[in-house]
Amino acid sequence: CGIVGFTGVNQVLPSLLKGLEKLEYRGYDSAGVYVNDGEKGDFLVKEKGRVADLERATEGKGIEGTAGIAHTRWATHGGVSVENAHPHMSEDGRFYLVHNGVIENYEALRDQYLQGVQLHSQTDTEIAVQLIDKFSKENHLSTFDAFRRMISLLDGNSAYGFLLMDRQTPNLMYAAKKKSPLLIGVSEVGNVVTSDATAMLDVTHDFIELMDGEIAVIDKQKIDLFDPNGKQITREAFHLDIDASETDKGIYPYYMLKEVDEQAIVARTLSQYYFDDEGQVQNIAPEIIEAMQAADRIYIVAAGTSYHAGLVGQRYFEQWTQTPTEVHISSEFAYEQPLLSKKPFFIFLSQSGETADSREVLDNITKQGYPTLTIANVMNSTLTREADFALPLLAGPEIAVASTKAYTAQIIVTAILAAAVGHTPFDLKNELAKVAVEMQVIIDQKDTFKSIAESALKHRRSAFYIGRGLDAAVAVEAALKLKEISYVQTEGFAAGELKHGTISLIEEGTPIFALLTQAKTAGLVRGEIAQVAARGANTVIIAAKTLAKKDDSFVLPGVNELLMPLLTVIPAQLIAYYATLDRGLDVDRPRNLAKSVTVQ
Ligand code: G6P
Repeated sequence: CGIVGFTGVNQVLPSLLKGLEKLEYRGYDSAGVYVNDGEKGDFLVKEKGRVADLERATEGKGIEGTAGIAHTRWATHGGVSVENAHPHMSEDGRFYLVHNGVIENYEALRDQYLQGVQLHSQTDTEIAVQLIDKFSKENHLSTFDAFRRMISLLDGNSAYGFLLMDRQTPNLMYAAKKKSPLLIGVSEVGNVVTSDATAMLDVTHDFIELMDGEIAVIDKQKIDLFDPNGKQITREAFHLDIDASETDKGIYPYYMLKEVDEQAIVARTLSQYYFDDEGQVQNIAPEIIEAMQAADRIYIVAAGTSYHAGLVGQRYFEQWTQTPTEVHISSEFAYEQPLLSKKPFFIFLSQSGETADSREVLDNITKQGYPTLTIANVMNSTLTREADFALPLLAGPEIAVASTKAYTAQIIVTAILAAAVGHTPFDLKNELAKVAVEMQVIIDQKDTFKSIAESALKHRRSAFYIGRGLDAAVAVEAALKLKEISYVQTEGFAAGELKHGTISLIEEGTPIFALLTQAKTAGLVRGEIAQVAARGANTVIIAAKTLAKKDDSFVLPGVNELLMPLLTVIPAQLIAYYATLDRGLDVDRPRNLAKSVTVQ
Protein backbone atom coordinates (compact mmCIF):
# COMPACT_ATOMS: atom_id res chain seq x y z
CA CYS A 1 0.00 0.00 0.00
CA GLY A 2 1.10 3.61 -0.41
CA ILE A 3 0.64 6.71 1.73
CA VAL A 4 0.85 10.42 1.01
CA GLY A 5 -0.11 13.39 3.15
CA PHE A 6 0.31 17.12 2.70
CA THR A 7 -0.27 20.10 4.93
CA GLY A 8 0.53 23.35 3.19
CA VAL A 9 -0.47 26.77 1.99
CA ASN A 10 -2.12 25.72 -1.29
CA GLN A 11 -4.85 23.29 -2.33
CA VAL A 12 -3.46 19.81 -1.67
CA LEU A 13 -5.83 17.53 -3.56
CA PRO A 14 -3.96 17.67 -6.91
CA SER A 15 -0.61 16.85 -5.23
CA LEU A 16 -2.15 14.04 -3.24
CA LEU A 17 -3.70 12.45 -6.33
CA LYS A 18 -0.49 12.83 -8.27
CA GLY A 19 1.44 11.31 -5.39
CA LEU A 20 -0.95 8.37 -5.26
CA GLU A 21 -0.47 7.72 -8.95
CA LYS A 22 3.25 7.41 -8.34
CA LEU A 23 2.54 5.01 -5.49
CA GLU A 24 0.30 2.69 -7.43
CA TYR A 25 3.21 0.27 -7.70
CA ARG A 26 2.51 -0.56 -4.07
CA GLY A 27 -1.01 -1.67 -4.82
CA TYR A 28 -4.01 -0.49 -6.72
CA ASP A 29 -7.07 -2.37 -5.50
CA SER A 30 -8.69 0.77 -4.18
CA ALA A 31 -7.75 4.27 -3.13
CA GLY A 32 -9.01 7.09 -0.96
CA VAL A 33 -8.37 10.63 0.14
CA TYR A 34 -9.36 12.86 3.07
CA VAL A 35 -9.02 16.61 2.76
CA ASN A 36 -9.80 19.20 5.40
CA ASP A 37 -10.36 22.87 4.78
CA GLY A 38 -10.99 24.02 8.31
CA GLU A 39 -13.77 26.50 7.63
CA LYS A 40 -15.46 24.95 4.63
CA GLY A 41 -15.48 21.50 6.09
CA ASP A 42 -13.88 18.23 5.17
CA PHE A 43 -14.17 15.59 2.48
CA LEU A 44 -13.63 11.84 2.43
CA VAL A 45 -13.71 10.07 -0.93
CA LYS A 46 -12.90 6.40 -1.46
CA GLU A 47 -13.19 4.30 -4.57
CA LYS A 48 -12.54 0.78 -5.76
CA GLY A 49 -9.99 0.36 -8.53
CA ARG A 50 -7.26 2.67 -9.71
CA VAL A 51 -6.24 6.13 -8.63
CA ALA A 52 -7.78 7.38 -11.90
CA ASP A 53 -11.14 6.07 -10.62
CA LEU A 54 -10.64 7.95 -7.36
CA GLU A 55 -9.74 11.08 -9.27
CA ARG A 56 -12.98 10.88 -11.24
CA ALA A 57 -14.89 10.37 -8.02
CA THR A 58 -13.43 13.57 -6.56
CA GLU A 59 -14.51 15.68 -9.53
CA GLY A 60 -17.42 18.05 -9.15
CA LYS A 61 -17.51 17.71 -5.38
CA GLY A 62 -16.02 21.13 -4.72
CA ILE A 63 -13.27 19.59 -2.64
CA GLU A 64 -11.05 22.23 -1.12
CA GLY A 65 -8.46 22.02 1.56
CA THR A 66 -4.86 22.75 2.42
CA ALA A 67 -4.28 19.55 4.38
CA GLY A 68 -5.08 15.96 3.56
CA ILE A 69 -4.02 12.33 3.56
CA ALA A 70 -4.41 9.68 0.89
CA HIS A 71 -3.80 6.00 0.33
CA THR A 72 -3.65 3.37 -2.39
CA ARG A 73 -4.33 -0.14 -1.20
CA TRP A 74 -3.19 -3.70 -1.76
CA ALA A 75 -5.73 -5.74 0.13
CA THR A 76 -4.57 -7.85 3.08
CA HIS A 77 -7.27 -7.92 5.75
CA GLY A 78 -10.66 -7.52 4.17
CA GLY A 79 -11.52 -7.83 0.48
CA VAL A 80 -11.47 -5.09 -2.12
CA SER A 81 -14.35 -2.72 -1.39
CA VAL A 82 -15.05 0.96 -0.80
CA GLU A 83 -15.58 0.27 2.92
CA ASN A 84 -12.20 -1.42 3.23
CA ALA A 85 -10.37 1.35 1.35
CA HIS A 86 -8.45 3.91 3.40
CA PRO A 87 -8.66 6.49 5.00
CA HIS A 88 -10.64 4.87 7.79
CA MET A 89 -12.77 7.10 9.95
CA SER A 90 -13.61 6.88 13.64
CA GLU A 91 -17.24 6.36 14.60
CA ASP A 92 -18.18 10.01 14.94
CA GLY A 93 -16.07 11.24 12.04
CA ARG A 94 -13.39 12.95 14.10
CA PHE A 95 -10.28 10.92 13.21
CA TYR A 96 -9.03 9.77 9.81
CA LEU A 97 -6.26 7.21 9.45
CA VAL A 98 -4.29 5.64 6.62
CA HIS A 99 -2.08 2.65 7.28
CA ASN A 100 0.49 0.44 5.56
CA GLY A 101 1.34 -2.90 7.11
CA VAL A 102 -0.46 -5.45 9.22
CA ILE A 103 -1.67 -5.28 12.81
CA GLU A 104 -1.30 -8.86 13.96
CA ASN A 105 -3.48 -8.66 17.08
CA TYR A 106 -6.30 -6.54 15.68
CA GLU A 107 -8.98 -9.11 16.49
CA ALA A 108 -7.89 -9.32 20.13
CA LEU A 109 -7.84 -5.51 20.37
CA ARG A 110 -11.29 -5.29 18.85
CA ASP A 111 -12.69 -7.84 21.29
CA GLN A 112 -11.04 -6.21 24.28
CA TYR A 113 -11.72 -2.53 23.59
CA LEU A 114 -14.32 -2.07 20.93
CA GLN A 115 -17.34 -4.03 22.07
CA GLY A 116 -20.39 -2.05 21.04
CA VAL A 117 -18.57 0.06 18.47
CA GLN A 118 -20.15 -0.17 15.05
CA LEU A 119 -17.39 -1.16 12.61
CA HIS A 120 -17.75 -0.42 8.92
CA SER A 121 -14.98 -2.51 7.43
CA GLN A 122 -13.12 -5.78 7.87
CA THR A 123 -9.77 -4.06 8.17
CA ASP A 124 -7.20 -4.00 10.95
CA THR A 125 -6.78 -0.28 10.26
CA GLU A 126 -10.28 0.60 11.30
CA ILE A 127 -9.60 -0.98 14.69
CA ALA A 128 -6.64 1.37 15.09
CA VAL A 129 -8.62 4.52 14.35
CA GLN A 130 -11.52 3.47 16.56
CA LEU A 131 -9.06 2.85 19.40
CA ILE A 132 -7.67 6.36 19.04
CA ASP A 133 -11.19 7.75 19.21
CA LYS A 134 -12.04 5.66 22.24
CA PHE A 135 -8.91 6.66 24.18
CA SER A 136 -9.38 10.32 23.38
CA LYS A 137 -13.00 10.26 24.50
CA GLU A 138 -12.99 7.92 27.45
CA ASN A 139 -9.55 8.59 28.82
CA HIS A 140 -9.54 12.26 27.81
CA LEU A 141 -6.21 11.80 26.11
CA SER A 142 -4.83 14.32 23.64
CA THR A 143 -4.73 13.06 20.05
CA PHE A 144 -0.98 12.59 20.39
CA ASP A 145 -1.36 10.49 23.54
CA ALA A 146 -4.30 8.51 22.17
CA PHE A 147 -2.25 7.75 19.05
CA ARG A 148 0.69 6.65 21.20
CA ARG A 149 -1.50 4.53 23.40
CA MET A 150 -3.00 2.75 20.39
CA ILE A 151 0.50 2.06 19.02
CA SER A 152 1.67 0.74 22.38
CA LEU A 153 -1.02 -1.95 22.23
CA LEU A 154 0.08 -3.37 18.88
CA ASP A 155 1.61 -6.81 18.87
CA GLY A 156 5.41 -6.74 18.51
CA ASN A 157 5.22 -8.40 15.10
CA SER A 158 2.91 -5.76 13.72
CA ALA A 159 4.18 -3.51 10.96
CA TYR A 160 2.83 -0.06 10.41
CA GLY A 161 3.18 3.25 8.70
CA PHE A 162 0.37 5.44 10.06
CA LEU A 163 -0.77 8.88 9.06
CA LEU A 164 -3.54 10.39 11.13
CA MET A 165 -5.66 13.54 10.95
CA ASP A 166 -7.96 14.99 13.58
CA ARG A 167 -10.86 17.09 12.34
CA GLN A 168 -10.46 19.42 15.31
CA THR A 169 -6.93 20.43 14.26
CA PRO A 170 -7.33 20.63 10.49
CA ASN A 171 -3.72 21.51 9.66
CA LEU A 172 -2.02 18.80 11.65
CA MET A 173 -0.88 15.33 10.63
CA TYR A 174 0.40 12.67 13.01
CA ALA A 175 2.80 10.06 11.61
CA ALA A 176 4.33 6.90 13.08
CA LYS A 177 6.09 3.89 11.64
CA LYS A 178 7.55 0.48 12.33
CA LYS A 179 8.98 -1.88 9.72
CA SER A 180 7.20 0.11 7.01
CA PRO A 181 8.83 3.22 5.59
CA LEU A 182 7.62 6.81 6.08
CA LEU A 183 9.42 9.98 5.14
CA ILE A 184 8.60 13.58 5.97
CA GLY A 185 9.22 15.96 3.11
CA VAL A 186 10.06 19.55 3.92
CA SER A 187 9.28 22.49 1.65
CA GLU A 188 8.47 26.18 1.66
CA VAL A 189 4.87 25.55 0.65
CA GLY A 190 4.27 23.05 3.42
CA ASN A 191 5.29 19.63 4.65
CA VAL A 192 4.47 16.21 3.25
CA VAL A 193 4.54 12.64 4.48
CA THR A 194 5.02 9.74 2.11
CA SER A 195 5.88 6.08 2.09
CA ASP A 196 8.14 6.69 -0.89
CA ALA A 197 10.00 9.89 -1.65
CA THR A 198 9.52 9.53 -5.40
CA ALA A 199 5.79 10.15 -4.94
CA MET A 200 6.39 13.69 -3.73
CA LEU A 201 9.35 14.88 -5.78
CA ASP A 202 7.17 17.48 -7.41
CA VAL A 203 6.86 19.16 -4.01
CA THR A 204 10.29 18.59 -2.48
CA HIS A 205 13.59 16.75 -2.63
CA ASP A 206 14.35 17.21 1.09
CA PHE A 207 13.23 14.47 3.43
CA ILE A 208 13.51 13.54 7.08
CA GLU A 209 13.45 9.84 7.71
CA LEU A 210 11.13 8.59 10.40
CA MET A 211 12.62 5.66 12.38
CA ASP A 212 10.87 2.68 13.92
CA GLY A 213 8.84 3.59 16.99
CA GLU A 214 9.02 7.36 16.44
CA ILE A 215 6.07 9.70 16.14
CA ALA A 216 5.97 13.00 14.28
CA VAL A 217 3.50 15.84 14.50
CA ILE A 218 3.51 17.88 11.33
CA ASP A 219 1.90 21.14 10.35
CA LYS A 220 2.64 23.37 7.41
CA GLN A 221 5.57 25.13 9.04
CA LYS A 222 6.76 22.86 11.75
CA ILE A 223 7.73 19.26 12.38
CA ASP A 224 7.94 17.88 15.90
CA LEU A 225 9.68 14.55 16.19
CA PHE A 226 9.49 12.23 19.21
CA ASP A 227 11.50 9.12 20.00
CA PRO A 228 9.75 5.92 21.17
CA ASN A 229 9.86 7.18 24.77
CA GLY A 230 8.07 10.40 23.87
CA LYS A 231 11.19 12.56 24.14
CA GLN A 232 11.45 15.30 21.54
CA ILE A 233 14.35 14.87 19.14
CA THR A 234 15.65 16.57 16.01
CA ARG A 235 16.92 15.15 12.75
CA GLU A 236 18.34 16.84 9.69
CA ALA A 237 16.67 16.41 6.33
CA PHE A 238 18.64 14.69 3.58
CA HIS A 239 18.55 15.83 -0.02
CA LEU A 240 17.42 13.27 -2.55
CA ASP A 241 19.25 13.77 -5.75
CA ILE A 242 16.92 12.27 -8.30
CA ASP A 243 15.17 13.88 -11.15
CA ALA A 244 11.37 13.83 -10.96
CA SER A 245 11.31 13.03 -14.68
CA GLU A 246 13.01 9.70 -13.96
CA THR A 247 9.75 8.53 -12.50
CA ASP A 248 7.70 9.70 -15.47
CA LYS A 249 6.82 7.53 -18.43
CA GLY A 250 7.86 10.22 -20.86
CA ILE A 251 7.20 9.13 -24.42
CA TYR A 252 6.54 5.52 -23.47
CA PRO A 253 3.07 3.95 -23.40
CA TYR A 254 4.08 1.82 -20.41
CA TYR A 255 6.77 1.95 -17.74
CA MET A 256 7.74 -1.63 -18.50
CA LEU A 257 8.83 -0.75 -22.01
CA LYS A 258 10.80 2.24 -20.72
CA GLU A 259 12.48 0.07 -18.12
CA VAL A 260 13.34 -2.68 -20.60
CA ASP A 261 14.90 0.01 -22.78
CA GLU A 262 16.95 1.40 -19.90
CA GLN A 263 18.79 -1.86 -19.30
CA ALA A 264 21.66 -1.15 -21.64
CA ILE A 265 22.27 2.20 -19.94
CA VAL A 266 22.09 0.60 -16.51
CA ALA A 267 24.64 -2.02 -17.52
CA ARG A 268 27.02 0.68 -18.66
CA THR A 269 26.51 2.80 -15.57
CA LEU A 270 27.16 -0.14 -13.30
CA SER A 271 30.43 -1.08 -14.90
CA GLN A 272 31.57 2.54 -14.73
CA TYR A 273 30.52 2.84 -11.11
CA TYR A 274 32.05 -0.35 -9.86
CA PHE A 275 35.26 -0.45 -11.94
CA ASP A 276 37.98 2.13 -12.29
CA ASP A 277 39.80 2.87 -15.55
CA GLU A 278 42.25 0.02 -14.93
CA GLY A 279 39.40 -2.44 -14.60
CA GLN A 280 39.92 -2.78 -10.82
CA VAL A 281 36.78 -3.01 -8.75
CA GLN A 282 36.12 0.15 -6.78
CA ASN A 283 33.10 1.27 -4.76
CA ILE A 284 32.82 -2.03 -2.93
CA ALA A 285 34.04 -1.52 0.62
CA PRO A 286 37.06 -3.69 1.52
CA GLU A 287 35.13 -4.79 4.64
CA ILE A 288 32.54 -6.49 2.42
CA ILE A 289 35.20 -8.28 0.43
CA GLU A 290 37.05 -9.39 3.58
CA ALA A 291 33.86 -10.63 5.23
CA MET A 292 32.99 -12.63 2.14
CA GLN A 293 36.47 -14.04 1.79
CA ALA A 294 36.25 -15.24 5.38
CA ALA A 295 32.96 -17.07 4.73
CA ASP A 296 32.74 -20.77 4.03
CA ARG A 297 29.32 -20.50 2.37
CA ILE A 298 27.22 -17.77 0.79
CA TYR A 299 23.46 -17.68 1.25
CA ILE A 300 21.45 -15.57 -1.17
CA VAL A 301 17.95 -14.82 0.12
CA ALA A 302 15.28 -13.10 -1.97
CA ALA A 303 11.75 -13.20 -3.37
CA GLY A 304 10.20 -13.19 -6.84
CA THR A 305 12.36 -11.88 -9.63
CA SER A 306 15.16 -11.06 -7.20
CA TYR A 307 15.24 -14.74 -6.23
CA HIS A 308 15.59 -15.58 -9.90
CA ALA A 309 18.50 -13.16 -10.21
CA GLY A 310 20.03 -14.98 -7.25
CA LEU A 311 19.90 -18.24 -9.20
CA VAL A 312 22.18 -16.64 -11.77
CA GLY A 313 24.40 -14.88 -9.22
CA GLN A 314 25.00 -18.20 -7.48
CA ARG A 315 27.05 -19.37 -10.48
CA TYR A 316 29.36 -16.37 -10.22
CA PHE A 317 30.09 -16.90 -6.55
CA GLU A 318 30.72 -20.59 -6.99
CA GLN A 319 32.84 -20.26 -10.11
CA TRP A 320 34.82 -17.14 -9.29
CA THR A 321 35.15 -17.34 -5.51
CA GLN A 322 35.04 -21.12 -5.12
CA THR A 323 32.62 -20.66 -2.23
CA PRO A 324 29.59 -22.96 -2.08
CA THR A 325 26.51 -20.79 -2.58
CA GLU A 326 22.87 -21.47 -1.84
CA VAL A 327 19.87 -19.48 -3.05
CA HIS A 328 16.72 -19.39 -0.93
CA ILE A 329 13.19 -18.05 -1.19
CA SER A 330 12.87 -15.67 1.74
CA SER A 331 9.34 -16.66 2.81
CA GLU A 332 10.54 -20.26 3.11
CA PHE A 333 13.86 -19.57 4.76
CA ALA A 334 12.16 -17.39 7.38
CA TYR A 335 10.31 -20.31 8.92
CA GLU A 336 12.36 -23.34 7.80
CA GLN A 337 15.91 -22.20 8.31
CA PRO A 338 18.27 -24.79 6.86
CA LEU A 339 21.28 -26.03 8.77
CA LEU A 340 23.88 -23.32 8.25
CA SER A 341 27.58 -23.73 7.61
CA LYS A 342 30.06 -22.61 10.26
CA LYS A 343 30.84 -19.25 8.68
CA PRO A 344 27.93 -18.19 6.55
CA PHE A 345 27.62 -14.87 4.73
CA PHE A 346 24.19 -13.60 3.76
CA ILE A 347 23.22 -11.61 0.69
CA PHE A 348 19.74 -10.13 0.42
CA LEU A 349 18.74 -9.27 -3.11
CA SER A 350 15.86 -6.87 -3.54
CA GLN A 351 14.60 -4.20 -5.87
CA SER A 352 12.60 -2.29 -3.28
CA GLY A 353 14.53 -3.15 -0.14
CA GLU A 354 11.17 -3.40 1.60
CA THR A 355 9.93 -6.94 0.93
CA ALA A 356 8.57 -8.16 4.25
CA ASP A 357 9.48 -11.81 3.63
CA SER A 358 13.13 -10.86 3.16
CA ARG A 359 13.06 -8.46 6.10
CA GLU A 360 11.93 -11.29 8.33
CA VAL A 361 14.97 -13.36 7.36
CA LEU A 362 17.33 -10.42 7.79
CA ASP A 363 15.92 -9.90 11.23
CA ASN A 364 16.42 -13.57 12.16
CA ILE A 365 19.95 -13.66 10.78
CA THR A 366 20.95 -10.43 12.48
CA LYS A 367 19.83 -11.89 15.79
CA GLN A 368 22.03 -14.91 15.11
CA GLY A 369 24.95 -12.56 14.57
CA TYR A 370 25.97 -13.51 11.02
CA PRO A 371 27.26 -10.92 8.53
CA THR A 372 24.72 -9.55 6.08
CA LEU A 373 24.78 -7.56 2.86
CA THR A 374 21.80 -6.12 1.03
CA ILE A 375 21.98 -5.42 -2.68
CA ALA A 376 18.99 -3.25 -3.52
CA ASN A 377 17.76 -0.66 -5.92
CA VAL A 378 16.31 1.60 -3.25
CA MET A 379 19.07 2.70 -0.93
CA ASN A 380 17.91 3.93 2.46
CA SER A 381 15.27 1.22 2.39
CA THR A 382 14.74 -1.05 5.36
CA LEU A 383 16.84 -3.93 4.02
CA THR A 384 19.77 -1.67 3.18
CA ARG A 385 19.63 0.11 6.51
CA GLU A 386 19.37 -2.97 8.63
CA ALA A 387 22.04 -5.11 6.98
CA ASP A 388 25.70 -4.76 7.95
CA PHE A 389 26.56 -3.72 4.41
CA ALA A 390 24.69 -2.42 1.39
CA LEU A 391 25.40 -2.04 -2.30
CA PRO A 392 23.23 -0.08 -4.73
CA LEU A 393 21.79 -1.46 -7.97
CA LEU A 394 21.67 2.00 -9.53
CA ALA A 395 18.96 0.94 -11.95
CA GLY A 396 16.91 4.09 -11.34
CA PRO A 397 13.31 3.94 -10.16
CA GLU A 398 11.53 0.82 -11.38
CA ILE A 399 7.79 1.40 -11.52
CA ALA A 400 6.24 -1.40 -13.62
CA VAL A 401 5.17 -4.30 -11.45
CA ALA A 402 7.03 -6.78 -13.64
CA SER A 403 10.67 -6.29 -12.74
CA THR A 404 13.09 -5.97 -15.64
CA LYS A 405 16.05 -3.64 -15.18
CA ALA A 406 16.39 -4.51 -11.51
CA TYR A 407 16.85 -8.17 -12.51
CA THR A 408 19.65 -7.44 -14.96
CA ALA A 409 21.22 -4.96 -12.52
CA GLN A 410 21.18 -7.61 -9.78
CA ILE A 411 22.94 -10.07 -12.06
CA ILE A 412 25.57 -7.47 -12.95
CA VAL A 413 26.22 -6.40 -9.36
CA THR A 414 26.50 -9.99 -8.12
CA ALA A 415 28.92 -10.70 -10.96
CA ILE A 416 31.06 -7.68 -10.05
CA LEU A 417 30.96 -8.59 -6.37
CA ALA A 418 31.98 -12.18 -7.09
CA ALA A 419 34.82 -10.88 -9.25
CA ALA A 420 35.96 -8.58 -6.44
CA VAL A 421 35.91 -11.38 -3.87
CA GLY A 422 37.54 -13.94 -6.14
CA HIS A 423 38.72 -13.56 -9.71
CA THR A 424 37.36 -13.99 -13.21
CA PRO A 425 39.24 -15.75 -15.97
CA PHE A 426 38.36 -12.86 -18.31
CA ASP A 427 38.15 -9.08 -18.18
CA LEU A 428 34.73 -8.54 -16.64
CA LYS A 429 34.65 -4.79 -17.16
CA ASN A 430 35.34 -5.22 -20.85
CA GLU A 431 32.85 -8.01 -21.20
CA LEU A 432 30.12 -6.02 -19.44
CA ALA A 433 30.76 -3.12 -21.80
CA LYS A 434 30.17 -5.56 -24.64
CA VAL A 435 27.02 -6.86 -22.94
CA ALA A 436 25.66 -3.29 -22.74
CA VAL A 437 26.16 -2.81 -26.47
CA GLU A 438 24.57 -6.15 -27.31
CA MET A 439 21.63 -5.51 -24.98
CA GLN A 440 20.88 -2.43 -27.04
CA VAL A 441 21.09 -4.45 -30.24
CA ILE A 442 18.45 -6.85 -28.92
CA ILE A 443 16.24 -4.10 -27.51
CA ASP A 444 16.23 -2.45 -30.91
CA GLN A 445 14.59 -5.50 -32.49
CA LYS A 446 11.22 -5.02 -30.83
CA ASP A 447 9.24 -5.81 -33.95
CA THR A 448 10.66 -9.33 -34.00
CA PHE A 449 9.47 -10.01 -30.44
CA LYS A 450 6.12 -8.44 -31.17
CA SER A 451 5.54 -10.82 -34.03
CA ILE A 452 6.86 -13.83 -32.05
CA ALA A 453 4.50 -12.95 -29.20
CA GLU A 454 1.52 -12.51 -31.48
CA SER A 455 2.08 -15.64 -33.52
CA ALA A 456 3.10 -18.02 -30.72
CA LEU A 457 0.81 -16.86 -27.93
CA LYS A 458 -2.44 -15.66 -29.47
CA HIS A 459 -5.35 -17.49 -27.86
CA ARG A 460 -2.94 -19.75 -25.99
CA ARG A 461 -3.60 -20.45 -22.34
CA SER A 462 -0.32 -22.10 -21.44
CA ALA A 463 3.32 -22.00 -22.44
CA PHE A 464 6.75 -23.23 -21.35
CA TYR A 465 10.25 -21.88 -21.18
CA ILE A 466 12.96 -24.53 -21.13
CA GLY A 467 16.73 -24.55 -20.87
CA ARG A 468 19.61 -26.13 -18.99
CA GLY A 469 22.07 -24.63 -16.53
CA LEU A 470 21.99 -20.85 -16.67
CA ASP A 471 19.25 -21.10 -19.28
CA ALA A 472 17.10 -22.98 -16.75
CA ALA A 473 17.67 -20.13 -14.31
CA VAL A 474 16.55 -17.60 -16.93
CA ALA A 475 13.64 -19.86 -17.93
CA VAL A 476 11.97 -19.43 -14.54
CA GLU A 477 12.27 -15.66 -14.75
CA ALA A 478 11.10 -15.65 -18.37
CA ALA A 479 8.07 -17.72 -17.39
CA LEU A 480 7.29 -15.40 -14.49
CA LYS A 481 7.42 -12.37 -16.79
CA LEU A 482 4.99 -13.91 -19.23
CA LYS A 483 2.52 -15.30 -16.73
CA GLU A 484 2.41 -12.37 -14.32
CA ILE A 485 1.36 -9.82 -16.90
CA SER A 486 -0.34 -11.75 -19.73
CA TYR A 487 -2.01 -14.39 -17.51
CA VAL A 488 -0.82 -17.13 -19.88
CA GLN A 489 0.00 -19.92 -17.47
CA THR A 490 3.69 -20.47 -18.08
CA GLU A 491 6.20 -22.80 -16.51
CA GLY A 492 9.94 -22.39 -16.57
CA PHE A 493 11.64 -25.75 -16.66
CA ALA A 494 14.99 -27.43 -16.57
CA ALA A 495 14.76 -28.94 -20.05
CA GLY A 496 15.93 -32.40 -19.01
CA GLU A 497 13.18 -32.67 -16.42
CA LEU A 498 10.36 -32.24 -18.91
CA LYS A 499 10.37 -35.90 -19.93
CA HIS A 500 9.83 -36.95 -16.31
CA GLY A 501 6.24 -35.84 -16.23
CA THR A 502 5.43 -32.46 -17.63
CA ILE A 503 5.81 -33.47 -21.26
CA SER A 504 2.32 -34.97 -20.95
CA LEU A 505 0.97 -31.40 -21.05
CA ILE A 506 2.27 -30.78 -24.55
CA GLU A 507 -0.49 -30.56 -27.13
CA GLU A 508 -0.72 -29.51 -30.73
CA GLY A 509 0.52 -25.91 -30.86
CA THR A 510 1.67 -25.56 -27.22
CA PRO A 511 4.28 -22.79 -27.31
CA ILE A 512 7.67 -23.91 -26.01
CA PHE A 513 10.33 -21.27 -25.79
CA ALA A 514 13.73 -22.92 -25.70
CA LEU A 515 16.75 -21.00 -24.43
CA LEU A 516 20.01 -22.24 -25.83
CA THR A 517 23.14 -20.42 -24.80
CA GLN A 518 25.25 -22.95 -22.92
CA ALA A 519 27.62 -24.93 -25.16
CA LYS A 520 28.05 -28.02 -23.02
CA THR A 521 24.34 -28.83 -22.96
CA ALA A 522 23.31 -27.40 -26.34
CA GLY A 523 23.13 -30.83 -27.97
CA LEU A 524 20.94 -32.16 -25.19
CA VAL A 525 18.58 -29.20 -25.38
CA ARG A 526 18.33 -29.65 -29.16
CA GLY A 527 17.24 -33.22 -28.39
CA GLU A 528 14.61 -31.98 -25.94
CA ILE A 529 13.33 -29.50 -28.48
CA ALA A 530 12.94 -32.36 -30.94
CA GLN A 531 11.04 -34.41 -28.34
CA VAL A 532 8.45 -31.69 -27.77
CA ALA A 533 8.23 -30.79 -31.45
CA ALA A 534 7.47 -34.44 -32.21
CA ARG A 535 4.50 -34.13 -29.88
CA GLY A 536 3.08 -31.12 -31.64
CA ALA A 537 4.69 -28.25 -29.71
CA ASN A 538 5.27 -24.96 -31.46
CA THR A 539 8.91 -24.35 -30.63
CA VAL A 540 10.46 -20.90 -30.48
CA ILE A 541 14.22 -21.23 -30.21
CA ILE A 542 16.28 -18.38 -28.82
CA ALA A 543 19.92 -19.35 -29.30
CA ALA A 544 23.36 -17.84 -28.89
CA LYS A 545 25.14 -16.99 -32.12
CA THR A 546 27.71 -19.75 -31.71
CA LEU A 547 25.03 -22.41 -31.17
CA ALA A 548 22.29 -21.17 -33.51
CA LYS A 549 20.86 -23.04 -36.46
CA LYS A 550 19.21 -21.68 -39.55
CA ASP A 551 15.60 -21.94 -38.46
CA ASP A 552 15.99 -20.62 -34.93
CA SER A 553 13.58 -17.83 -34.10
CA PHE A 554 16.07 -15.42 -32.63
CA VAL A 555 19.85 -15.34 -32.55
CA LEU A 556 21.47 -13.71 -29.55
CA PRO A 557 24.79 -11.90 -29.99
CA GLY A 558 27.78 -13.67 -28.50
CA VAL A 559 29.17 -12.64 -25.12
CA ASN A 560 30.84 -14.69 -22.40
CA GLU A 561 28.62 -17.68 -21.72
CA LEU A 562 28.24 -16.89 -18.04
CA LEU A 563 26.88 -13.44 -18.85
CA MET A 564 24.38 -14.68 -21.42
CA PRO A 565 21.42 -14.40 -18.98
CA LEU A 566 21.73 -10.62 -19.33
CA LEU A 567 20.88 -10.98 -22.99
CA THR A 568 18.58 -14.01 -22.95
CA VAL A 569 16.11 -12.41 -20.60
CA ILE A 570 15.45 -9.42 -22.87
CA PRO A 571 13.55 -11.35 -25.58
CA ALA A 572 11.52 -12.94 -22.78
CA GLN A 573 10.68 -9.53 -21.31
CA LEU A 574 9.64 -8.16 -24.67
CA ILE A 575 7.66 -11.25 -25.64
CA ALA A 576 5.77 -10.93 -22.35
CA TYR A 577 5.21 -7.23 -23.00
CA TYR A 578 3.81 -7.69 -26.51
CA ALA A 579 1.72 -10.74 -25.61
CA THR A 580 0.10 -8.64 -22.87
CA LEU A 581 -0.51 -5.69 -25.18
CA ASP A 582 -2.01 -8.06 -27.71
CA ARG A 583 -4.50 -9.18 -25.10
CA GLY A 584 -5.46 -5.62 -24.32
CA LEU A 585 -4.26 -5.84 -20.71
CA ASP A 586 -2.57 -3.25 -18.52
CA VAL A 587 1.11 -4.15 -18.82
CA ASP A 588 2.26 -2.12 -15.82
CA ARG A 589 -0.43 -3.12 -13.39
CA PRO A 590 -1.43 -6.76 -13.62
CA ARG A 591 -4.31 -7.84 -11.43
CA ASN A 592 -3.74 -8.87 -7.81
CA LEU A 593 -0.08 -7.84 -7.72
CA ALA A 594 1.89 -5.11 -6.05
CA LYS A 595 5.37 -3.95 -6.88
CA SER A 596 6.54 -3.91 -3.34
CA VAL A 597 5.01 -6.43 -0.98
CA THR A 598 5.45 -5.12 2.53
CA VAL A 599 3.40 -7.83 4.23
CA GLN A 600 4.37 -11.45 4.83
C1 G6P B 1 6.85 -8.41 -5.61
C2 G6P B 1 7.03 -7.90 -7.02
C3 G6P B 1 8.08 -8.72 -7.75
C4 G6P B 1 9.36 -8.74 -6.96
C5 G6P B 1 9.14 -9.27 -5.55
C6 G6P B 1 10.37 -9.10 -4.68
O1 G6P B 1 6.19 -9.62 -5.64
O2 G6P B 1 5.81 -7.93 -7.74
O3 G6P B 1 8.33 -8.15 -9.02
O4 G6P B 1 10.31 -9.52 -7.62
O5 G6P B 1 8.08 -8.55 -4.92
O6 G6P B 1 10.58 -7.73 -4.49
P1 G6P B 1 11.96 -7.05 -4.15
O7 G6P B 1 11.62 -5.59 -4.08
O8 G6P B 1 12.40 -7.58 -2.83
O9 G6P B 1 12.90 -7.37 -5.23
